[in-house]
Amino acid sequence: MYKKKQVALPKSNIKKYQLVKGMKDIVPEEQPFWSFVKDQVEKIAGEYSYQKIDTPVLESTNLFVRSVGEDTDIVTKEMYSFIDQGGENVTMRPEGTASIVRAYNEHGMVNLPQPVKFFYFGPMFRYDKPQSGRYRQFYQFGFEALGEAEPIIDAQQIFLGYKIFQSCGLNVSTQINSIGCSECRPVYQNLLIDYFKNIKSHLCDDCKKRMTKNPLRILDCKEKKCQELLVNLPQTVDNLCDNCRNHFVRVLEYLDELEVPYILNARIVRGLDYYTRTTFEFWANEEEEGRQNALGGGGRYDKLVELLGGRSTPAVGFAVGVERLITKMHDNDFAPPKSPAPDVFLAQLGNEARKRSLKLFEELKKAGFKAAESFAKNGIKPQLELANRLGVKYSLILGQKEILDKTILIRDMDGGIQEIINFEKIIPELEKRLGKRGENQPS
Ligand code: HAM
Repeated sequence: MYKKKQVALPKSNIKKYQLVKGMKDIVPEEQPFWSFVKDQVEKIAGEYSYQKIDTPVLESTNLFVRSVGEDTDIVTKEMYSFIDQGGENVTMRPEGTASIVRAYNEHGMVNLPQPVKFFYFGPMFRYDKPQSGRYRQFYQFGFEALGEAEPIIDAQQIFLGYKIFQSCGLNVSTQINSIGCSECRPVYQNLLIDYFKNIKSHLCDDCKKRMTKNPLRILDCKEKKCQELLVNLPQTVDNLCDNCRNHFVRVLEYLDELEVPYILNARIVRGLDYYTRTTFEFWANEEEEGRQNALGGGGRYDKLVELLGGRSTPAVGFAVGVERLITKMHDNDFAPPKSPAPDVFLAQLGNEARKRSLKLFEELKKAGFKAAESFAKNGIKPQLELANRLGVKYSLILGQKEILDKTILIRDMDGGIQEIINFEKIIPELEKRLGKRGENQPS
């Protein structure tokens, strides 16, 4: 709990506050990118019948320990967990899937027609080492489909992610794998243990422990020296049981049908424990460096609903890191379409005109015009300069003389031609020049 300090600081000690490490402001000039990505996500979600869900940032810590897994980096090193004032151990969500499954169970959504399909967009928190593309608060959007085991939905989700990246100007490389089920995965894990047995001394300390606890985790260790040992790995796909192999082959066939290019990659085991069968990541390029900063990833989690107290329900989903996606949009010089300039700028001179302009501005908006102003400015020149910068087509100029004459000046900003019009005729005059709003023009 915050406790007020008793000592008043001398003025010279007042510091300029800075962002907390690993956090990021999304400044106004970045907002068009964020709105654009959000629009694409919502558009595609609508086309594929995914419904929006918002879950809280705070969840009970055990939810993530149980779902993401006790031995994962996220749970062991990266969670923002604390005991709240009521003594409950809570965590600021490091990811979205566990919360979605909790909500699905808590609201009895197993009784709805299946699959139940959700999408979300919101901040996640991981106490990771901040570096390029890695923040402690970052945004994800994600898609989750619960209640469907058919491989067609895995492929459709990958396609859907691929389409969102394409709409943002990115050609991603889809890396795909299957990590099997509780029947075939232990066989593969034993092969991994054999593989690492002779080179164990070269592994990092964490991976030495992982060898006995959870050898799959070695494959996504971030340490360079461990990554370098993974060149001749046994392939997961060669060791799947018949059902898992059949499921995976069908996912790939559907991807071929959808013409989504993919690369089989045995190292895509993902850093969270809940996955079964299909796992995939979207990389910005085909090289290994893509792995360090994957743009997104996901897979099946057929056991998670049950693990969190629900009825056995297969599920599949993925999430994308929005900061990473937007960084790539910048790298590729992809600019979201600019929002249209205001229709009209309202310039005023003198006290009376300023007072009148306040009301006129509201009337312009009511008539559906996108209007701009700078009421606090005094001279006409700086106001018209601003109008020019905004790219408006017409400015309305109201001064002392116009107030007395019950007129207003309308200035065509392209040619600079000014005409005097009757104050009462402003709206019809603008409608004549720009078209009636609320009909075929966006306001
Ligand atoms: P994840 O791979 O941990 O999966 O995260 C998904 C994406 O979030 C990453 O590919 C990356 O773009 C972004 N991301 C992760 N950590 C950071 C960070 N520290 N800074 C910036 N971006 C980051 C999941 O979270 C799963 N819940 C995905 C999923 C959904 N699986 C099934 N359904």
